[in-house]
Amino acid sequence: MADLDQAREWLTRADSVAVMTGAGISAESGIPTFRGSGGLWKDYKPEDLATPEAFARDPRLVWEWYNWRRETIAKAAPNAAHRALVELEIRKPRFTLITQNVDGLHDRAGSGKILKLHGDIWRMRCTACGANWPDRRVPLPKLPPHCACGGLTRPGVVWFGEPLPDGMMKEAEHAASAAQVFLVIGTSAVVHPAAGLIPYAKQSGARVIEINTEPTAYSAMVDCALLGPAGELLPKLL
Ligand code: APR
Repeated sequence: MADLDQAREWLTRADSVAVMTGAGISAESGIPTFRGSGGLWKDYKPEDLATPEAFARDPRLVWEWYNWRRETIAKAAPNAAHRALVELEIRKPRFTLITQNVDGLHDRAGSGKILKLHGDIWRMRCTACGANWPDRRVPLPKLPPHCACGGLTRPGVVWFGEPLPDGMMKEAEHAASAAQVFLVIGTSAVVHPAAGLIPYAKQSGARVIEINTEPTAYSAMVDCALLGPAGELLPKLL
């Protein structure tokens, strides 16, 4: 297994880089992850809060949870790992950032094009007319919120059991298959289809570099698994 120096050399030489991030990249900004110690899914059940069925059953409860998460995220700022990815994007002729995060910290750090596989917590979508729009109000004045058409509004995120935004997975697969280096940062890699991008990139010939504070199911198959916080390791890798 390669070390940090070897990984840095691969990254320096690569013209085409794709990156996939998960909740772990925002952990050092103070935003809780979903799994692992302190993870949200220890205290909350996804089936109560992050499925279309949960929303149909109790939209107010779901919105209370999202409103609380929006409050937590609003207090957070991008960290050194988010900023390092902006620098990497500037350096590389071909660069794609794929994220599972809905927190918007990559946008706030200054990343350009971002494939937000799981949507965006700062967007709203009307369940009646389908309109979607940004809304950064914290806290939201009225729960559950409604659209101008009178329809019930939902968070602009992808819930368990829902398809990813149209065409986005194809774009992510294209980037993963074209990448010379595929960087996987702060994801437990258990949620599909996102996790499938890791073996996909590897089979397509990319050097896969993982950064995580703990080993994952993919650590043994990647080319380099760097153990530690993204905010420390990523700047060193650049
Ligand atoms: N640096 C790097 N990795 C970290 C750090 C850190 N500072 N802190 C935690 N991690 C790692 C954890 O070890 C864990 O493997 O980040 C990972 C976070 O995993 P999850 O909480 O499962 O987050 P993620 O993989 O993004 O979850 C995928 O599941 O419910 C959802 O929709 C939600 O997009 C999310 C999806």
